Amino acid sequence: MRVIRHVAELQQLADRERSLGRSIGLVPTMGALHAGHLSLVEQARRRTDRVWLSIFVNPSQFDDPKDMDAYPSTFEADLRACRAAGVDVVFAPGADEMYDPDSQTWVDVDEITLPLCGAARPGHFRGVITIVTKLLLAAKPHVAVFGEKDFQQLAVIRRMVRDLGFDVEIVAGPIVREADGLALSSRNVNLDAEARRQALVLCQALDAAERAVAAGETRSKALLQLVRQEIGKAPRAEIEYAELRDPESLEVAPPELARATLLALAVFIRPPGAAAGTTVRLIDNRVLHPQP
Ligand code: PAF
Repeated sequence: MRVIRHVAELQQLADRERSLGRSIGLVPTMGALHAGHLSLVEQARRRTDRVWLSIFVNPSQFDDPKDMDAYPSTFEADLRACRAAGVDVVFAPGADEMYDPDSQTWVDVDEITLPLCGAARPGHFRGVITIVTKLLLAAKPHVAVFGEKDFQQLAVIRRMVRDLGFDVEIVAGPIVREADGLALSSRNVNLDAEARRQALVLCQALDAAERAVAAGETRSKALLQLVRQEIGKAPRAEIEYAELRDPESLEVAPPELARATLLALAVFIRPPGAAAGTTVRLIDNRVLHPQP
């Protein structure tokens, strides 16, 4: 497995692989790898001859510097996990390599970045889309794989690739969950035992909504009320958003659901009482399929 730090070197290798007729699959990450990332590696492997994984904690997508400081870093363990998973190249650039201090160019996607995570985290998607564009230009992959847990991110990336005419196939990796339903996330390491227990309300709320839809519920308002009720059962959980949206355009779902609809959640799990500790922001989602 090669570890590459420089864009020019990665581009040269991409040209060589392409000239030899080999396809490249890229898995962009910010490190702190877990089984969810490794499932994306598997998705890439099924489709391409070479699997490349990037590790770059992208400063421009953090609206709060404290959030970036709290982001876990496990580089050596990540390299071991990549080796074991048969990754061919890890691209791990430094911040200077990806952002020239003199750079004036950003890639911005419009309406689809405004709701949900975009509403709460101004500038977040501009940072994500700019770095994803740079990674695609650096690795020249045939396929790039992103997890469905960051559903809005995936929708925004698809939109950018379509709008800019990038010659890359975007593949979605399904959410990977612990046995009890908690969606895998690099941020889960910041949950203490009690916070982790309370974090299960995200998945429980999604399950409750899915059951209600299976039983014939199609009213948006009733479904969102149910979701709020479920999350309300955890005293340390505070909803940032709980919304029903079109899975592609991310427009607000109609009052009566008639087709596949995204239920997207962002929830803060707060430390107990006034205690000092880490507030962890978790996201999760499910596409609901109302009965015809
Ligand atoms: O999902 C992530 O880990 C990041 O947002 C990404 C896509 C690697 C861009 O920094």
